[in-house]
Amino acid sequence: MEELKAEGICKRFLRGSRSVEALRNAEINLKRGELVFLVGASGSGKTTLLKILAGLLKADAGRIIYGTRDAGAFSEDAWCEFRRTELAYLPQQLGLLTALTAAQNVALPAMLHSRERRTAEVYGRASALLDKVGALSLKDAYPAELSGGETKRVLLARALMTEPKFLLADEPTADLDPKSAADFIELFSELRTNGCGVLAVTHEHAHLQRADRVLELEDGRVRAFEEMRETLAQGYGKG
Ligand SMILES: Nc1ncnc2c1ncn2[C@@H]1O[C@H](COP(=O)(O)OP(=O)(O)OP(=O)(O)O)[C@@H](O)[C@H]1O
Ligand SMILES: [Mg+2]
Repeated sequence: MEELKAEGICKRFLRGSRSVEALRNAEINLKRGELVFLVGASGSGKTTLLKILAGLLKADAGRIIYGTRDAGAFSEDAWCEFRRTELAYLPQQLGLLTALTAAQNVALPAMLHSRERRTAEVYGRASALLDKVGALSLKDAYPAELSGGETKRVLLARALMTEPKFLLADEPTADLDPKSAADFIELFSELRTNGCGVLAVTHEHAHLQRADRVLELEDGRVRAFEEMRETLAQGYGKG
């Protein structure tokens, strides 16, 4: 499974009596070993698209293909298995279980795997990942005790626990200081080098030059973000 492809993705939401067209024939593809950033105005449908790609939201129309597998044929169980083994989704909003510590949250995906009951080994890996994202000192903290940026670090560690082939990250650096954000981007770059396909939503144009491709969501469609060079040269997104 080397590539994910989505074609003709349409999604409408009903808000009261009003219908919001979030995605209109959106297309996207992501190869393993590629780092792609997705930009677009607030409300342009970025989160909606990522959730659909992760099987957490159903599109009204369109096809999602992972390698040779048509995700339209996945049952709910198949999606769960797929997210546990091949695809990691890093949510924009909070996503940690409040009754578990940071380390327990990170270890959870592997603990749920029936073949991985070697607790010490799993926690060892969870600690190593927390260390990698600069959050080892928080391993015994509960989600309610974490700041927004700290939560993002723990979420990233948890996403990496299963060594995913694809990582879909929704504004992973939004709550981070510039140095931590740069560390995250460095980590994404390393994941890409190791063969993971990374699709990350961002509003921070400062990082865009690190990507293999930059895409933009506009009017419900995905297109190449062609103004990138020009906007970077003009300093768009500074400050
Ligand atoms: N469950 C929902 N019910 C109704 N409308 C929704 C729902 N989820 C999203 N929308 C609407 O769909 C559009 C796209 O939302 P989405 O969250 O995908 O935007 P986004 O690009 O991720 O924005 P941001 O950059 O602010 O995170 C918005 O107009 C939003 O209000
Ligand atoms: Mg969003």
